This record gives sequence, structure tokens and C-alpha cells, in this order.
Amino acid sequence: MSRFGKKLNIVLLGPPGAGKGTQAKSLAHKYQLLHISTGDILREAVRQNTKLGREAQSYIRKGELVPDEVVFNLVKEYLTQRDCENGAIFDGFPRNINQAKMLQNLEYIKQSDCFIVFLIDIPEQEAIRRLSNRRYCPKCKSIYNLLDKMPQKHVGDSYLCDKCGERLVIRDDDKPETIKHRLHIYHKEIGPVIDFYKDLSLLYNIDGIRGKEAVFNELVNTVDEIIAKDCKNDRNKK
Ligand code: AP5
Repeated sequence: MSRFGKKLNIVLLGPPGAGKGTQAKSLAHKYQLLHISTGDILREAVRQNTKLGREAQSYIRKGELVPDEVVFNLVKEYLTQRDCENGAIFDGFPRNINQAKMLQNLEYIKQSDCFIVFLIDIPEQEAIRRLSNRRYCPKCKSIYNLLDKMPQKHVGDSYLCDKCGERLVIRDDDKPETIKHRLHIYHKEIGPVIDFYKDLSLLYNIDGIRGKEAVFNELVNTVDEIIAKDCKNDRNKK
């Protein structure tokens, strides 16, 4: 159980580049939650050339969604194999209404004391600007940006991860045409997911255009307020 004696589960929704991964890492650290990034898990499987990785690779490269069953099984497996005693933060899952329903029907979520869904939103131009400048550590999954979070070291043209020294990469799906397609898929799928969580009174909107710290502070203030109300605020009563 977490330090406030309850299991806290958080879902982060938002377009590519909204800062889900960045904020999920900080929130997971602050509340000691298991960070489940379906994107990171899939990219790691691709890197290790596992059966899952070979299946997922073509979808990721094109900016398409990996089939729901594949991703859902992966989430379930992750939850059983890792420590989620305090709760978990779901980053990049669910992506469509089918996945949202799958998650809601999961026994683990049904037993959650505190369940919060954040929609971090940014305009399309900002998403393109951020993703075109992102660098990613394939080993420890750290996220950098050439505009405002520059890695400190480089060898030749390659930047190195500040944390683990690995050579940073540009993600396969951060090419301009793939970014546009990912944004298109996001807008096509997300409407019913937003409605679903609104109907359950679980959704909180966050303006993601501000600096990382301002966004983080708002997320934390909201979580703390909900915890202070013993998770019995309006949006958590269902
Ligand atoms: P995934 O890895 O989940 O990608 P995504 O959802 O498109 O999101 P991103 O990781 O691109 O962005 P982010 O919101 O995490 O932003 P970040 O913090 O990195 O999925 C990739 C692929 O895997 C999918 O396309 C699909 O193929 C597959 N997949 C994954 N999950 C799936 C699922 N559930 N079902 C089916 N398929 C699935 O930040 C971006 C950049 O901006 C960084 O450089 C960062 O430093 C910077 N930044 C962050 N916040 C700020 C800020 N406030 N101000 C300025 N810069 C900022």
C-alpha cells in the first residue's frame, strides 16, 4: 500500500508529444507507483527482437496501433510480474474505447481505491515541434529534447544518455510523416475514451502547453487533493 494507505492508479491520456512519458516518470517516482508505458515495453521487445517485438514493429513504424489483445495481455502480464503494491501509472494505455473497457473490467482496477484519469492536451503544432526534437535512450528509457532538455555529453554526432551513457536515438516513429499519422490515429480513437471516463466522472483536463514543472505541479496538486478527500471526491465516487 502507498504511504496514504490506498492503492492509487493513474491513467495518462494525450496526443503524442503531450508529455505523458515525462510526467509519468516523475509521478511514478513521487508516489512510488509502477510505471507501465506500453510504448516503452513494445520498443524494448523490438530491440530484443522477441516474438512480440517482431509482431509490433511494423505497427509502430507506421504509427498504427498494435492490436488490442496483444497490448492488453502485455499490460496484464506486467501487472502480475512487477510490484504494483502502491498502484500504477498507465502511460499510453488505453488508446481506444475497447482498451478502456478492457482496463475497467480488470480485477486489479476494480479493486483500486483511487483511480484518476488525466487528459494532457497540447496543440498539434506543439506536438510536432517537440517530437521532431526528441531524443530517447533505448536502454533506460530517459527522454530528452534538443530544445529544452539537452543531454550533456556527445560522441561525434551522437548524444549520450546522462543517466546510463547509452547512445541516444531518434525514435523510428518520430519522422514527420509518421508523427502526423500518429496524431491522426489519436484524434480518430480518443473521443469515445474521453466520453467513457467523463461518464464515470474520472476525467481531469490538464493544459500541457506549459513547462514541465507547471504541468507536474498541477498533476500533483490534483492527486493530493483527491487523496486528502480520501478519494471520495465527486469524480471518484463511482
Ligand atoms: P508511445 O510510446 O505511447 O507514444 P505516444 O503516445 O505517441 O506518445 P509519445 O511517447 O510520443 O509522447 P509523450 O506524450 O509520452 O511525450 P514525452 O513525454 O515523450 O507509443 C508508441 C507506439 O507504440 C504507438 O504509436 C503504437 O504503435 C504502439 N503503442 C503504444 N501503446 C499502445 C497501445 N496502448 N495500443 C496499441 N498500440 C500501442 O515528451 C515528448 C517530448 O516533449 C520530449 O522530448 C520531452 O522532453 C518534451 N516535453 C515533454 N513535456 C514538455 C513540456 N511541458 N514542455 C516542453 N517540452 C516537453
